[in-house]
Amino acid sequence: MSAGSQHPATIAVSAGRPHGIGEPLNHPITLASNFRGEEGVYSRTHGTPGWIGLEEAVGALEGGRAVSFSSGMAAAAAAVFALAPKVLVLPTYSYLGVRALVDDHVRQGHLQVRFVDIADTAAVVAAIAGADVVWVETPTNPTLDVADIPTICAAAAAAGAKVVVDSTFATPVCARPLADGATIVIHSGTKFIGGHSDLLIGLAVAADDATYERLRQTRLVNGSTPGALEAFLALRGVRTLPLRMERMQANAVEVVARLRTHSAVADVRYPGFGAMVAFVLAGGADAADAACRAVRLIVPATSLGGVESSMERRQKYAGDAHVPPGLIRMSVGIEHVDDIWADLAQALAAG
Ligand SMILES: Cc1ncc(COP(=O)(O)O)c(C=O)c1O
Repeated sequence: MSAGSQHPATIAVSAGRPHGIGEPLNHPITLASNFRGEEGVYSRTHGTPGWIGLEEAVGALEGGRAVSFSSGMAAAAAAVFALAPKVLVLPTYSYLGVRALVDDHVRQGHLQVRFVDIADTAAVVAAIAGADVVWVETPTNPTLDVADIPTICAAAAAAGAKVVVDSTFATPVCARPLADGATIVIHSGTKFIGGHSDLLIGLAVAADDATYERLRQTRLVNGSTPGALEAFLALRGVRTLPLRMERMQANAVEVVARLRTHSAVADVRYPGFGAMVAFVLAGGADAADAACRAVRLIVPATSLGGVESSMERRQKYAGDAHVPPGLIRMSVGIEHVDDIWADLAQALAAG
């Protein structure tokens, strides 16, 4: 049975392993920059077995060829560098780090940006003519807007534009944008793929060989390589990604249902899949800050996608000044849902 016809739960467990008789089941952590011989083998240019295992596994899950990077931002920067757009369509409200990256290119005069509401498909399609690349983030961080990837990809293909999808919140378990026509899928592997809040890593997965080679060349010249330990841990995370997502999603659905009937909550945003939830407290910023201070089990923290539930109020960041003041973005973990809810309910009472 080829990886292509298997389910994600199977691919996640079996892809990216050594296969020779007598070899270990997992690529060992290879702490080496230099390799003996006259072929010029060097980690930054040739990779290490650990990166290759991780790339095989994530590539198989996404249905493309993956290149690993030192962080999600390094993967995003590599996608911009590799495709070198002159005109980029970008969601107005997307991860603030990516907007800062693009702003920098704009200030240096390398790039023009057309901002769009990524959930407004007609507006996105209307912005594509004359653009080189459409940047899609879906669901978006932190407002969880969802893009229509197949329609955007079809419109981009008709206009000769490429599509990059930041699928960090969806994970390869909930979305496979390459199958819908995207050129590159990127992940902050720091989040759900790693899954344990103990590493920084990024992945860019290419739909075709030429794009894959551009991404590899970009990593080589920019030196944005992952660490050997991080790659090992990220691949360990991949093994349980579908299992964790199953539990996290079930928990998220239940938390959303309970939030929707809570009197302190003015609005709940949940795309119907994944583990990210955003909710707005009727009491605004003060109530949201108080709730974030009051949690005991749920971790008040800025990153997400770990086994532990975490949450934070987003509007406090200058880059997220547009979001409602009382909006809390929550990453729902794998704890028992009743314990998550008990903690959230007492924290909401404190707000
Ligand atoms: C949607 C999204 N993309 C990219 C990144 C950047 O990833 P990293 O922090 O691994 O550089 C993040 C980080 O929060 C994110 O949420």
